[in-house]
Order: sequence, then C-alpha cells, then structure tokens
Amino acid sequence: MGAMSLLWILLFISFQKVYLQELELDYYDEMYEEPQPVNCSTTETIKGGRVTYSQGGLPGSVLTYHCEPGHYPFPVSHRSCSADGEWTIMRSANGRRLSQATCKELLCPGQLQLDHGEIWPRDQWFRPGSNQSFSCQEGFTLSGSAQRNCTLSGEWTGNTPACDNHADDCQDPGVPPGAQRTAGRFQTGDKVNYRCQSGLDLLGSAERVCLENREWSGTAPRCQGPHTFDSPSVVAAAMSGSLSGVMDVLSSQEFKQKQSFGRTIRVAKGSRLNIYILLDSSGSISKEDFESAKIATIKLIKKLDSYEVQMKFHVMSFASQAIDIVDINDRYASSNVDYIIWSLKDFDYKSHGRQTGTNLHAALHRVNEKIAFFKQNSKEHHFNETQNIIIIQTDGYSNTGTSPQIALAHIRKHLGYSPTAKDHTGETLLDIYVFGVGDQLNKAELNAIASKKAGEKHLFILKDYEILGEVFNSMISDKSVTMCGVAREDEDFVQDKDLVYTRPWLVTVCFGSIISQNWVLTAAHCFARSSSQNIIQTIEVEYGEGKVAAKNVAIHPEYNVRKLNHRNVSEFYDYDIALVQLNRSIPLSWSARPICLPCTVPASRALKKINSTCEEHRKELLSHKQTAAFFFHKSNSKGSARKETHIHTQDQRPGCVAKAMLTLTKPTNVTVDEYVTERFLCTGGSEGYQDSIACPGDSGGSLFLQKRMRYFQVGVLAWGTTDPCKHPGSRPGPTARDFYISLFRVVPWLKEHLGQEIQFLDN
Ligand SMILES: *[C@@H]1O[C@H](CO)[C@@H](O)[C@H](O)[C@H]1NC(C)=O
Ligand SMILES: *[C@@H]1O[C@H](CO)[C@@H](O)[C@H](O)[C@H]1NC(C)=O
Ligand SMILES: *[C@@H]1O[C@H](CO)[C@@H](O)[C@H](O)[C@H]1NC(C)=O
Ligand SMILES: *[C@@H]1O[C@H](CO)[C@@H](O)[C@H](O)[C@H]1NC(C)=O
Ligand SMILES: *[C@@H]1O[C@H](CO)[C@@H](O)[C@H](O)[C@H]1NC(C)=O
Ligand SMILES: *[C@@H]1O[C@H](CO)[C@@H](O)[C@H](O)[C@H]1NC(C)=O
Ligand SMILES: *[C@@H]1O[C@H](CO)[C@@H](O)[C@H](O)[C@H]1NC(C)=O
Ligand SMILES: *[C@@H]1O[C@H](CO)[C@@H](O)[C@H](O)[C@H]1NC(C)=O
Repeated sequence: MGAMSLLWILLFISFQKVYLQELELDYYDEMYEEPQPVNCSTTETIKGGRVTYSQGGLPGSVLTYHCEPGHYPFPVSHRSCSADGEWTIMRSANGRRLSQATCKELLCPGQLQLDHGEIWPRDQWFRPGSNQSFSCQEGFTLSGSAQRNCTLSGEWTGNTPACDNHADDCQDPGVPPGAQRTAGRFQTGDKVNYRCQSGLDLLGSAERVCLENREWSGTAPRCQGPHTFDSPSVVAAAMSGSLSGVMDVLSSQEFKQKQSFGRTIRVAKGSRLNIYILLDSSGSISKEDFESAKIATIKLIKKLDSYEVQMKFHVMSFASQAIDIVDINDRYASSNVDYIIWSLKDFDYKSHGRQTGTNLHAALHRVNEKIAFFKQNSKEHHFNETQNIIIIQTDGYSNTGTSPQIALAHIRKHLGYSPTAKDHTGETLLDIYVFGVGDQLNKAELNAIASKKAGEKHLFILKDYEILGEVFNSMISDKSVTMCGVAREDEDFVQDKDLVYTRPWLVTVCFGSIISQNWVLTAAHCFARSSSQNIIQTIEVEYGEGKVAAKNVAIHPEYNVRKLNHRNVSEFYDYDIALVQLNRSIPLSWSARPICLPCTVPASRALKKINSTCEEHRKELLSHKQTAAFFFHKSNSKGSARKETHIHTQDQRPGCVAKAMLTLTKPTNVTVDEYVTERFLCTGGSEGYQDSIACPGDSGGSLFLQKRMRYFQVGVLAWGTTDPCKHPGSRPGPTARDFYISLFRVVPWLKEHLGQEIQFLDN
C-alpha cells in the first residue's frame, strides 16, 4: 500500500434553522424607524413536557420543547419568534396546522426479518423497556444478540441477529430492525439490498456486495427514526476506533499487543495530516449553537493534534458562500494549533453577515480546489502519501447552489477513485465522516455524503452541539492510545473529582513517574542504601487508581550519598535517580499513562520533530534561561498538587546553584561545581516569579513541562536547600532552591534499562 500520510479532515458545522427571523429583523431595523418589537408569548405549553425561551420571547428568540427521557416533542422541538411576534407555525406530516405540541413516546422499530430464524414477538414497534427474542432453525447458528431490549433513546441493546450455516462465501450480514432485505445467496459477487420501513431513514450502505475476501462491501445499514439520536459514548468509540486505526503509528511499533481496528495502519513514519474544518454558519444559527460548535471544534482540533502525525488545518465557514478562517496553504497558520484555535475563537457568528443559504457544494468545492492544488504540486505536498479524512457536521439541508455530490465526485476523481462510487471500502486515501446535528436533518442526503467502509461508521446523528463537544473530548479511547505525555486538559474538569486525569504518569513510591507500562522513574535515595530483594518485595507503586508491586529496582551505579563525607559533605545527591521495574504492566487509562522522556522517538513524534537529535530536544524543552515547569507536591489532605516553578539555565544557573553552598555547615574545600554537578537542574527563586519549592516528601517526582499539548519530563527531584513543609503557609525564603537530576545527563543509563521498551534516539 506504500507510505500514505497526508490526511484531510473536513468538518462542517451547521445549525438548526432558527436564526432566520433574527437576521431579518436586523434588516428591517435598518429600513424603518424604530419599529416597536412585538414579543412572542412566553406562556406556550407542551403536553407532558416543559418549554424554555432563549431571549424571553423577543423577536428572534427560540422556543425549545423538552420532554421526559423516552419521549420527543411533536411536531417540532424548536420554534422561533418572528418579527410580528408570532412563533413559527407547527404542521403535522400531512400539512395540517397544529396549535398544541405534545410529547410522544419514542419507539424502537421491530426486527422484521431474520432468515432461517424465529422472531418473537413479531411487532412493528416496541415501547422502551420491552424486548424482542431471536432463535435459529436447526443447522444454523446465531450471531448477534438472542434478545434485545428497547431503550429510552429508541435504540436496541445488543447487535443485529443473524442465522448462518457457513455454506456461502460471506456470512449472512443480517437485517437491522425496521429493515427488509432482498432474498439471495452470499457467494462472491452476490448483492444484497436493504430498505427501511416508511418513516425511517436508512443510514449506511443500502447495497452490499460479497467481496473476494469474503467480507461485505460498505458499511452495515441501520434504520433510524427522525427523533432518534446516537449516544455520545457510541459515537466516541466508533470515531476513536476508526481514527486511531488511521493515526496511531506509535503503538504498532512500541507495543506489541496492538489492537486491530478492522483495518491496517496506514500512516507511515513522518506522516502528514491535512485537516479541513468547515463551519456551516448558514443563516439559521443561534449564537449558543455557534459557540457550542466552536468549542466542539476546538476540542476536536486539540485531540487530533495530540496524535503523532504532522498536521495542517483548513478552517472554513460557509453559508451561501464559503469563507476561509485558516487557509491550509498558509504554512505558518495551517500547522499552528494555537493560532488556529485563536482564529476560531475570534470568528464571530455574525462574521458571515447576512447569510441565509446552506451551500454545501460551495464548501466542498473549496476543498476540492485545495486538493487539486496539492495534486498539481504533488511532489512538494506528498500528494500520493496523503490520506484524506473528511469530517462533516451539518444539518443536511443544502438548499443553495449545486449538489454537494458534484464537488465530492471531483475530490474522488483527483484521488483516483470512481467519482460515483457507492462502496468506499477501497478509498484508502479518503474518509468522509458526517455529523448531523439536530432533528431537522435530511438524513438521506447526509448518508449519501458519508463514506461507507467495512466495519466502520462514518455517519452520526447527534441531538445537539454540546454533545458534539463531549464526543470529541472523549474521542481518544483509553485502550487504543499508548502515547506519552497525554493528559486531559478539559477546563470543565472539577479539580478534586478528576485529579488523577491531569497527571496520569504520577505514581507514589516516593514520588515517581510512569515512563512505560512497566517502568517507573524516581529518585535513588528513596530506597535507602539497599536494593536487596527483601526491600524490593515491600515496594508498592500506587498509580492513578491502582497498585502494583515492584519486580526490580535499578539505582544509578554512580549514586553514593556518602561520596564526599571525607570532605565534610554529609549528603551528596549526584546521580540520585532510580528505575523501578513493575511486576505487571500498568493498564493504560486516563489516570495512568506514561509521560514523554526526552531523547526518545516517542518524544520526537510528540514534539513533531521527525529525525531530531537529543540536543534538539534539549533546545526545544529548555530553550530559555528561565523555563517554566511543574512538579507535584504531596499535600496532606488528598493526593498531590501541581506546583509551578522555573528552571534556571545558562547565565542564570550560577546564581541558582550558589545557594546550595549555604547547606554546608562544616568547613569544606568542596566547590559549587563539585557539589551541584552538571547533572543537576536548578529551580526556585523569586526573580520575576515566586517559584514554589518542594518538600522532602516530594522526592523522586518529575520536573516536567508542557509542549504541544503534551507533557515532557526533564528532571527527577533529588534535594533542596530548604524544607517549606516545616513552616507551612510561609513563602519560601530567598535562598530556597531545588535540585533535580537532569534526564538529558543520564540518557545512556536510561537507554540501558529501557531500550527494550522505549526507542531512544541514536544521537
Ligand atoms: C419583550 O421581552 C423583553 C425581554 O423579556 C422585555 O424586556 C420587554 O419589556 C418585552 N416587551 C414587551 C412590549 O412586552
Ligand atoms: C420481555 O418482555 C416480555 C413482555 O414484555 C416480558 O414478559 C419479559 O419479562 C421480558 N423479558 C425480559 C428478560 O426482560
Ligand atoms: C436484555 O435484558 C435482559 C434482562 O435484563 C438481559 O438478560 C439481556 O442480556 C439484555 N439483552 C441485551 C442484548 O443487553
Ligand atoms: C503519484 O501517483 C501517480 C499515479 O500513480 C504517478 O503518476 C505520479 O508520478 C506519483 N507522483 C509522485 C510525486 O509520486
Ligand atoms: C507481583 O507481586 C505481588 C505482590 O508481591 C505478587 O502477589 C504477585 O504474584 C506478583 N506477580 C507477578 C506476576 O510476579
Ligand atoms: C529522516 O531520516 C531518514 C534517514 O536519514 C531520511 O530518509 C528521511 O527522509 C528523514 N525524514 C525527514 C522528515 O527528514
Ligand atoms: C572537616 O571539618 C573539620 C572540623 O570540623 C576540619 O578540621 C577539617 O579540616 C575539615 N575537612 C576538610 C576536608 O575541610
Ligand atoms: C580537600 O581536602 C581534602 C582533605 O584535606 C584533600 O584530600 C583534597 O585534596 C582537597 N581537595 C581540593 C580540591 O583541594
């Protein structure tokens, strides 16, 4: 398959059609002298539910109907207040005007067809809480669930049942609830066709072919009602599985038990990723939705950026035209995530002006122009190594301009695929994800746009934009991602509750840090003088939410606290560093995950510096005379607190380390360079910043800093000049300094012990 690397992501955000009136009002405002606005009534009701109003009934405000779980508002969930003070009219499916909204029960569509099997009970619709059972005729075995339960969200638990006797090339692909399938055999080349009962939309492939490899082409179909939505956890799992399969290059190499996500890993070392984000700001957006959409998008960008691939972004807003927010051809902007996030935040929902259309074609056409440009300059832009992922968020009503399919056909053509393909399984360079948001969707149109690949989902129907943010934030699943230095950065996180998520490499021996699933880095002095087997057996490593025993401890051979005793130095902490090998692997999760070690290949990837050297890592991480960094402080009440400090290097170092001499109480001829060797990083002081100072109990902990949304450890806490815990609450004195063993100075020793598990740089 070769090395394919650029990845295109295209993201549409679109909004429910509720903003129209507000814009028209602005328009009228300009035309007439202060027309007295007439408010809409705020005493509307819905049978079985409640009503909220976005702007107190002012023209342009939005009314939202809310129902109990398991119910949905009928006939609409939103109404907007028009300039003449009336809520938009409600009509039933047959066009009859309705004056009263009602909460109706969500029903699950029944299983209608199970070839070679029995269905019980055989109803067309099921209420939440009821169930349906399946069994197979003799000679056939059941795959999927024998019983499925109808949930409050109108979905069934479990998986589609099918009865198979393994007589054909392909397995019986099953029939989803609410659907019927053409009869037929399942030999190579045979086709099956699905349709959904009326009122339900078919999502996925309506036609599937039994392929040579005995798999069905396309993606499994499902039938969804207009008021049914995908749950965030389902979407996140499907998305992360799929995206991880594309992007998680690291795990395949470093961790042998790599999970398969139903397709091969296609991104090679040094991969590139081009991401197109399209915000649909058609004239129907409420300000709240636009803000939610921006927040969701920022979360998505942050998540994507944490993958170890080089990425470029294109951010676009579209209504009746497409407007670039970030241009992928702008070399600086398109790969600078901070800049992109800033640009997005800066883009006001009214920046588009008065825009009433939803021109999906214009947006896709713009993407096609970019792809065409990259193709023309294919060598420079690695066009043939480009993997294209398109993520679309939309309400699905492209009501202006040409059909979006025409632009998609051009994109496919440029990438060498059939412009009219129904089956996208072979489109290894292109993935189109579609997120439909809201209940005013044209699901058939969205389904036509989304990719259809075996074992993957590309179309998701979400209730609102807030759920979209939730999905993107939880997108990288625990199991699939083994990357170093990733922590949750969610501002919404309650500090106390989710403490462990923001420091997943932290363990307590002394303090220490998880650097791989089997190794913890800490200080040598934590193990007293002995590393005898007796002591090791008593060592327990506590991490995030678990405990694990030690198997072995490797103390740096040069560590000798008494080395300078004969020169009246009672304690000497050069090479105060140790590695604890664990007797079982720590399962990776949001509360337990390795931190990045400099001078390793994973750190290179995390820094997005392919082929970099150890020295380049040092320059990148300790570039300033005064580098902001963090350490953990053991607090009495619960766990640990993250404290901020500064690492003093270059011409700031001598002043910092000089304070160490004040700890020497007996006469000595030891020089400062002998006492605080080049192995030490020095932190603390109050010039410019009031740095926090560690306590003895914090020993072994990591000195770390953040780069590109990842955390990198640069030191291990060895000792300090003062103990602030003796005088809690008081500011550290002017001579308070801490000394950390610099990881850059012990790379050969780290490599000797960790080389099997972590790939170190050659130089
Ligand atoms: C319309 O609603 C707004 C917001 O609730 C209120 O401030 C205003 O007084 C109302 N105007 C009329 C004419 O009732
Ligand atoms: C399935 O539904 C039937 C009828 O509603 C009910 O009698 C039965 O207890 C249910 N079974 C389970 C396992 O929930
Ligand atoms: C449906 O509910 C029953 C009874 O609670 C349970 O035994 C069964 O596993 C459920 N089916 C699925 C697919 O979750
Ligand atoms: C890309 O692939 C096409 C078709 O296989 C080939 O003609 C072209 O030379 C390739 N370009 C580069 C830069 O590898
Ligand atoms: C790990 O250590 C614990 C406690 O000493 C012990 O019970 C367990 O058997 C050990 N596991 C392995 C795999 O060595
Ligand atoms: C990295 O180094 C290898 C071998 O020296 C070279 O082939 C490759 O092109 C380099 N990659 C980059 C991105 O510089
Ligand atoms: C160590 O201290 C003693 C006095 O406490 C002093 O006599 C001796 O010279 C000192 N040794 C060194 C090496 O400075
Ligand atoms: C320091 O004093 C000790 C003991 O008196 C002596 O052996 C050593 O040579 C001295 N070192 C230096 C660098 O002066």
